[in-house]
Formats: sequence, C-alpha cells, structure tokens
Amino acid sequence: MKALVFHHPKKVKVEEVADPQLEKKDDIILKVTSTAICGSDLHIYNGFFPQIKDMVLGHEFMGIVEEVGSEVNHLKKGDRVVVPFPIACGQCFFCQHALSTHCENSNDNYGPEGGLLKEKGAGLFGYTDLYGGYSGGQAEYVRVPYANVGPRKIEGGLKDEEVLFLTDIFPTGWAAIDWAELKGGETVVVFGCGPVGIMAQKAAWLQGAGRVIGVDILDYRLEIARETAKSETLNLHDVDVVQEIRNITDGRGADVCVDAVGMEANRNLLEKASNLMHMQGGTIKVINQCVSAVRRGGVVSIVGVYGTTYDNFPLGQIFDKGISLKMGQAPVHRYIDHLLQLVREKKVVLDDIITHPLPLHQAEHAYEIFCNKQDNCLKVVLKP
Ligand SMILES: NC(=O)c1ccc[n+]([C@@H]2O[C@H](COP(=O)([O-])OP(=O)(O)OC[C@H]3O[C@@H](n4cnc5c(N)ncnc54)[C@H](O)[C@@H]3O)[C@@H](O)[C@H]2O)c1
Ligand SMILES: [Zn+2]
Ligand SMILES: [Zn+2]
Repeated sequence: MKALVFHHPKKVKVEEVADPQLEKKDDIILKVTSTAICGSDLHIYNGFFPQIKDMVLGHEFMGIVEEVGSEVNHLKKGDRVVVPFPIACGQCFFCQHALSTHCENSNDNYGPEGGLLKEKGAGLFGYTDLYGGYSGGQAEYVRVPYANVGPRKIEGGLKDEEVLFLTDIFPTGWAAIDWAELKGGETVVVFGCGPVGIMAQKAAWLQGAGRVIGVDILDYRLEIARETAKSETLNLHDVDVVQEIRNITDGRGADVCVDAVGMEANRNLLEKASNLMHMQGGTIKVINQCVSAVRRGGVVSIVGVYGTTYDNFPLGQIFDKGISLKMGQAPVHRYIDHLLQLVREKKVVLDDIITHPLPLHQAEHAYEIFCNKQDNCLKVVLKP
C-alpha cells in the first residue's frame, strides 16, 4: 500500500510499504478514507520528538472496516468508523477512570515517570517509538488495536469531513475548556488560532463562555477564527495582548486562558540560542503569556504540547495569583460520543476549517505548506 513515511526531520515521503496485518484477535484493519495532518505531527517532522526508525505517521483518520479479528464484537467489514488518536485497552485502571491517554496496556514503553525518553503514556497512532511505535493512518490502510474500545460507527448521511475531527482536535479543544469548568459568562482567551485553538474557541461558546478571544501572529488564521468560531481576535504583533485583555476585563485578566500553541511558538534568534543553551525543546513563552493574561484565581488550560524540562517556569507568579493549571493529551474516548451527538444535531460545524483537501500522494507538499504556514494553509485533509 501507499503511506506517508517519516525518515528523518523535514524528510517525509509517500511510498510503498507492507500492508498492515491483523496481529491480535481484537484488531481491525481499516481502509482509510480521510486523514488529516496535525500540529502534533509537526513536532516529529521538525525533530522535537525523536524518531530513529522510519514510521508511517498520522493519528487523525477514519475509514471503512476491511478485516476484523475473531474477538471484535461490534464491528463488521464495511462499517464506517472514526478512531480516537489515543490507543486504549478499555480495561486498565486509567481506562476505567476515563483517562485513555494514560492506558497502562497500549505502550511497551509505558510507565509512571513520564520522563524525557522513557515511561511515556498510552500508545498513540503514528507517534514515535516512545508512544508504542504504532503505524499511523496517513496511509491507504491502518491496523487499529483494541477495536472494541476506540472506533465509533458513523451512520446516516454525515460526510467524512463533518466527523473526521472527532478523532482529535475537537475533543482536544473541548477538553481544554472542560478542564476550566465554566459556570457561564466567562471570558475565555485562546492563544493559537491553529486547528486546535479554533476548536477550543468553538467549544468555549458551547460550554457557556460569554466572550471568546483568539490570539495568533498570523492574520489569515485570525480571520478564519473570526469566521468559523465567531470569536474576537488579537494579533500579538499588533497589540500588547496582555494589556489589551486587562483593559477589557476591568484590569483583572481573563477567567480562562488556553495555550493551544505549545513548545513550537514563534521564537527570535536570541530565544532560539537561549533555548539551545538550556537544552529546552522549544519555548514556554505562551504559558508565560497565559499566566500574565489570566485573572487571579483563574484557570490556564494547556493543550499545546511540551516535551522537555523548562527553566524559568513562572511558578511564583502562578502561586501568587492562585492560578489552576490543567494540561495533557486529550482523553478523546471520554468525550467523543457526546461530541458526535453535537455534530449530528448540527450544534457545531467542524469542517469549515479545512483549507486544503488533497490526495495522499501530495502529503509531502502538504506537510511543507502546513508547517511553514504557506498558501493560507490551516488544515489539510488527505484522501488515500
Ligand atoms: N493535548 C492534545 O491532546 C493535543 C491534541 C492535538 C494537538 N495538540 C497540540 O496543540 C498545538 C496546536 O496544534 P495545531 O494543530 O493547532 O497547530 P498549528 O501549528 O497549526 O497552530 C499553532 C498556532 O499557534 C500560532 N502561534 C505561534 N506562536 C504563537 C504565540 N506566541 N502566540 C499565539 N499564537 C502563536 C501559530 O501561528 C499557529 O497558528 C500543538 O502543540 C499540538 O501538538 C495537542
Ligand atoms: Zn492531532
Ligand atoms: Zn487501558
């Protein structure tokens, strides 16, 4: 089959690889019909998460069941499903506590430490050997383990594009807001108007926010946020965002700030050099911005990804302001059924952020334009 293979940083290529096979009795093989590229894929593409061996990338995918293992009990050949990006057994302590990204059984490299290169969380599709070494779904076919637990059947007239983002970015944006436990009427500021940030903005309205503000450094992304999430927007290059947020909140700051950027935020040369000296993967500048822009007693939700230890973490400021921090990979299994229902009821539209529907064979080009923010690219959906 054809698949997008990661070779080394900045080098991915669509090429012929072996077809996936059923390995366990509760596996399925999925014929992929749509698959997206995520900001998280860029951490591998840009070398922030190390991957030595070649690997088929992709953790946002859906398709048609092609083969089922003998112990798969609710799916058959021909069923159409979306698949959450975390791989979870459904049985262990963490799965039983709705924490699928901490499943104890889906990653050989699993452990309580969460260290730099050891004892990581649950297996993730196409997300390096640290997270289980599973082949991903930017491919014609993919093996899906624990198929009784992850895949959700899609019935009725919904198009792929309408439900594809239930695999990751909508539940991720939803989690960021859910963690802040809105009571209604809050001011929510989302740093980052990439796909995840825009989904968080949509989720904020649905969960009762009174005011939603998206922040980015790229005007075309702010424009898409205004159009698709109906949020107000601020460009960090044009205004002092923290001051502006205080100005509109009686000097206090926002009730909730979401970091939907992560360690690959924009950096100047000096910052890059300093990060190199401190052996930091990227920067925590967006966390700093969130901590300054949130009000005392507020919540900072971090869904942007961080990989290493970081110096000068603003702990004193967080303590003095009494800020609650919540972060992590999104427990997609916990939210996906409810969110699918919202899509069915047309309470939310997810496909309006797609700027580049492309055939899988153009995936190499797609990585380039998504990574470099060229051609007004916001979200790529690939068709194998
Ligand atoms: N926690 C999870 O489960 C989960 C799931 C999916 C994605 N993610 C992470 O979420 C983050 C965003 O993903 P994405 O697909 O939207 O990526 P993206 O790269 O398309 O979006 C990031 C956005 O941040 C903007 N940005 C850069 N520096 C900024 C700054 N200083 N202030 C404000 N905005 C800035 C960029 O212009 C861009 O629009 C990534 O780190 C990704 O790995 C996490
Ligand atoms: Zn993703
Ligand atoms: Zn488990």
